[in-house]
Amino acid sequence: MYSRIVATGSYLPDKILTNKDLESIVDTTDQWITERTGIKQRHLAADNQSTCDLAEQAVRNAFESADIDPQSIDLIIFATTTPDRVFPSTACLLQQRLDIHGCPAFDIQAVCTGFIYALDIADKYIKTGAAKRALVIGAETLSRIIDWSDRSTCVLFADGAGAVILEANEEQGILSTHIHADGSFSDLLTTNASITGVNNIGKVHIGMKGNEVFKKAVNTLGAIVDETLEANNMQKSDIDWLVPHQANIRIINATAKKLKMPIEQVVITVQNHGNTSAASVPLALDTAIRDGRIKRGETLLLEAFGGGFTWGSALIKY
Ligand code: UT7
Repeated sequence: MYSRIVATGSYLPDKILTNKDLESIVDTTDQWITERTGIKQRHLAADNQSTCDLAEQAVRNAFESADIDPQSIDLIIFATTTPDRVFPSTACLLQQRLDIHGCPAFDIQAVCTGFIYALDIADKYIKTGAAKRALVIGAETLSRIIDWSDRSTCVLFADGAGAVILEANEEQGILSTHIHADGSFSDLLTTNASITGVNNIGKVHIGMKGNEVFKKAVNTLGAIVDETLEANNMQKSDIDWLVPHQANIRIINATAKKLKMPIEQVVITVQNHGNTSAASVPLALDTAIRDGRIKRGETLLLEAFGGGFTWGSALIKY
């Protein structure tokens, strides 16, 4: 039994912040951000919009695209690092909005690799027969934990949501997933948001040693490409599409080079929405499915790297 993607959806909030806008907030330039990251603009949630609000839009978008009844969902996994509340989980908040009752619903916290972790778990539920139709979401409101005076991070992170619906099917779907973590790098990409220690409400922000994260990301993603191909006894040329985590165009280019893949076969959306952490891979996937680039039967390699460090990949026959 395989997990097949039967629907995808995504949502970006209306408010757009361009690189030019950022020039008046911090000491930066459109040229620096474009050359070093590939980002041109990002979307920010409205003051009254939460991570669950963005996710709900993406999920309704997915249900509509395949005319699927929400009541048929028997598993909800929500990847986020910016949950609405400490508890209940954002998955439970979303479940209530969808008027679904009784099926397991839980959050996954693996920062930018969260969506790949969620896919890995959903796939195992489906393969073992424990679920038949799973809703997997990646959604973030990272703008809430950005220090808007720190030019090294505020130009990178932003808000968005993406979702996929997986269904048990005898036809090939997810071929393999690979997830990893190494907590010894936890201080290189982190936040001071905490429920222990000082009360830092209003002072919460992301901190990153960008250059060190960059080098580790490039090497680690190169290695996971090899691991994924070997596990499936496949060649680089068997991959039709690379759907990478959208953190930095230079990291994406390095992974494409490793795969000897022309850039036309890489889904790149980072210019439109910056780094949306767990939302980034499903946002890119939905974009390329909806615009007709990714077609049924093609082989997709999804990958991500993020805080923790965590990293992972999924090889999918679409
Ligand atoms: O999603 C999770 C994984 N996250 C990532 O993969 C992010 C990985 N890191 C990166 O993408 C890159 O390291 C950054 C985009 C964050 C930074 O690019 P970089 O080429 O590594 O630059 P850098 O940090 O080495 O900084 C180079 C210079 C510094 O100035 P000096 O010391 O050379 O004078 C920075 O102060 O660029 C300066 N700088 C900026 N200048 C203009 C840093 N941020 C900015 C900015 N505008 N926004």
